[in-house]
Amino acid sequence: MKHLTKITDIKVDIKKLKSVYFNTIDKILEWSKDDPNLYDFNAICVNQIPNDPLSIRGGNIRGLYWTYPKENWEEEKRLNKVDETQYTELCKPFKGTYVEEIYAEISQRWKIGRFRFLMKPPRSCLSWHRDPEKRLHIPIITNPGCRMVIEDESFHMPADGSLYITDNTKYHNFFNGGETDRIHLVGTLLEK
Ligand SMILES: [Fe+2]
Repeated sequence: MKHLTKITDIKVDIKKLKSVYFNTIDKILEWSKDDPNLYDFNAICVNQIPNDPLSIRGGNIRGLYWTYPKENWEEEKRLNKVDETQYTELCKPFKGTYVEEIYAEISQRWKIGRFRFLMKPPRSCLSWHRDPEKRLHIPIITNPGCRMVIEDESFHMPADGSLYITDNTKYHNFFNGGETDRIHLVGTLLEK
């Protein structure tokens, strides 16, 4: 795999992480999106810019990406660049939880920007796009029909407690071809 790296020397307790996720969903009640018409993109932010609740609202939830929306093959830039280096404060619902432990552990090894739970509903896919940075994935709930495509590679990331680095600076997509929600905890990797 050219664009996928599996990290196996850090192990996440998926059962424990899943229970934080379900408890949080109970408290937050809804997924955030910058555009209420969006079906395919849903996020819950784990960290924010200190004392700045707007940093996890609107376009900051998704951030800058490039895509080819039309048949003229012209690349378009969407949304604005988010200064991910400033996302250093854990959001309230996650303080004292297992998510805080994971955040601390991965932050020792990588420089992480935004850290978000990302949900893809059943039978949905993203735009064909590229992002400014790579991503660190911790799959939590998935199914065999969940696949990421990066350029000419396609792969499934199992919820096996491993971490996965994906090169989102290359053109990619993610689709959930199953019939259950797909939940990953995803961090922006601020170094190559
Ligand atoms: Fe992406």
